[in-house]
Amino acid sequence: MSGQSYFDDTEKRALEKGLQAKEAVQLDSSHVLDRKCSWVRTRRILALICACTFLLGQSAYSYWPSARSSRPYPLTSGDIDYSALCPQSEEISPSANAGLAEQLDKLYSQREVKEWAYENLGGAVRIPTETYDDIPPPGEDSRWDTFAVLHKYFEKRFPLVHSKLQVTKINMYALVFHWQGSDESLKPIILTGHQDVVPVLPDTVDQWIQPPFSGYYDGTWIWGRGSCDDKSGTLASLTAVETLLKQGFKPKRTVVLAYGIDEERGGEHGAGHIAEYLLKVYGEDGFAVLVDEGGGYKDLGNVIISSPNTAEKGKLNVQIEVTTLGGHSSVPPPHTGIGYLSTLITSLEANPFPVELKRSSTYFKTLQCAAAYDDSLPSDYRELVAKASIDDIALAQVQEYLLAQRPDFYRAKFGTTQAIDLIHGGVKVNALPEHVWTVANHRIADWSNPAEVRSRYIDVLSPVATELNLTLHAFGLPALPSLEQSRASAGLITLSDIYDEPLAPAPVTPTFGSPAWELLSGTILSTLGSAIRSDVTEKPAYVGPELSIGNTDTHYYWNLTRNIFRYGHLGEDDRYNGAHTVNEAIKAEGYLEKVRFYSRFILNADETHLLDSY
Ligand SMILES: *[C@@H]1O[C@H](CO)[C@@H](O)[C@H](O)[C@H]1NC(C)=O
Ligand SMILES: *[C@@H]1O[C@H](CO)[C@@H](O)[C@H](O)[C@H]1NC(C)=O
Ligand SMILES: [Zn+2]
Repeated sequence: MSGQSYFDDTEKRALEKGLQAKEAVQLDSSHVLDRKCSWVRTRRILALICACTFLLGQSAYSYWPSARSSRPYPLTSGDIDYSALCPQSEEISPSANAGLAEQLDKLYSQREVKEWAYENLGGAVRIPTETYDDIPPPGEDSRWDTFAVLHKYFEKRFPLVHSKLQVTKINMYALVFHWQGSDESLKPIILTGHQDVVPVLPDTVDQWIQPPFSGYYDGTWIWGRGSCDDKSGTLASLTAVETLLKQGFKPKRTVVLAYGIDEERGGEHGAGHIAEYLLKVYGEDGFAVLVDEGGGYKDLGNVIISSPNTAEKGKLNVQIEVTTLGGHSSVPPPHTGIGYLSTLITSLEANPFPVELKRSSTYFKTLQCAAAYDDSLPSDYRELVAKASIDDIALAQVQEYLLAQRPDFYRAKFGTTQAIDLIHGGVKVNALPEHVWTVANHRIADWSNPAEVRSRYIDVLSPVATELNLTLHAFGLPALPSLEQSRASAGLITLSDIYDEPLAPAPVTPTFGSPAWELLSGTILSTLGSAIRSDVTEKPAYVGPELSIGNTDTHYYWNLTRNIFRYGHLGEDDRYNGAHTVNEAIKAEGYLEKVRFYSRFILNADETHLLDSY
């Protein structure tokens, strides 16, 4: 899993070009308004709504006509208090354990320790724990056997983790490590990840620069499937704990590590069983904070922005079946089942789900954080996003503008998506198809839910069904009704959920002002600020929440804590390529920072008072 958030370079260029073009047009036609706006801009825009905004706002593509500002960074003077859009926590470094933290950084700077840490990951990558959509539960398929090999490897590489922590195997291969703290009154923290990887397609093997399960460290990169997703997470947290144990650290606050085995196929066998076990042992809301994979940080030129995912879209697969009378194709009706199904698909695609950038949404916070701190974005755009905090027209302009720049990406961020991914129909060229079907995959907006998706199907398909003289059975029926029941019509449309359980969008993790958020973001800032990599950057860093458009194991963990963060401390440039494709590789020094992040997070959580209220 990974979550991209901010503007890539192409997009930035497009954005800038677009704004320049618009400015040119407006400077021509609206210099009177321009003067008025400039005057107003000398006041705090957030405190009032400029009358001319309203006028300009009549067209969604009108922008504040202004010269590009060259205000000093950070942009807090004059019109807008940008930092108020995205409040930042203080850096948090271990203080009672300051000496230990320093000692750890010395260790992590040593060549032998680095190579040990890199090989921890490399060796794990060499054990191909691939997971498959069709795999039965552990114990019923020999393809799970590689997980036993991985466990043996863990035992060998992390002897202290295995001797000092309590190890529990769940559903054979899911792993939970319990590191008892000395103070029972402190709520445990939990770090999670997954042991499985997506398979390597055999016909892509020759496209890999290094063999896909080589785990080869070439001096810069560690290569292979899982090097990023998610063996880097699993191995970085194990490496951090082993190192802390080596230094004799004894936690006051209990630390739990949990690693699923089938995140890449939904997480049922791993996280599903882990969650059940953890709820039994630690109780509902039994953890102060949970950190799983996701997110990361990105160098935007002048600043670094780190984006823990604090919200996650939902998911629903809908099957549409069309049942018609069969027969010989020498005397066909005007529409066969395939023809009907095609019409239904066409009307679904002609009526995409509504998109809306909501002010209360997590992604609006993401945009605000980018506007607040990314000074490479056009200043007019930044002002517009700032105004959108209180101005509905500005909000609509932001939405429309972004959708015009990169429609698919922003539709996914602003609303529910639909993708017709499967189709089946017809068995013989001279026979009318009696039963045809298709499946649509939906990722549900954080402000919507599965019920709304289903009801939209009914809204869109009912009139089409009537027009086609088809009977519509939507979602409610326990069994497929026989065609006899619908003799009055030319056929039957049946809508139903299929495959995975419907997944509602995740509960939104509290952010600004929440103690757990402060602890996480303060730790991120201090880890970035004390980075020991050779290509260390001194750029100012900021943390802002982000919406995940994919899913992780965390959807099983909702009842363990409300403070769920999907965050892997890894820079975007520390990935050679995207996950789930060829040439997965992680920059070794970036991975080491991930180890440092977990180490500091455990130390910070151990001594902080920020978690006292949970
Ligand atoms: C609908 O289909 C049925 C069955 O083929 C047929 O009897 C009926 O006349 C059709 N109704 C309309 C309005 O076409
Ligand atoms: C959380 O607990 C509620 C109430 O017991 C239950 O209905 C729900 O299914 C649980 N959610 C998850 C993700 O386990
Ligand atoms: Zn993953």
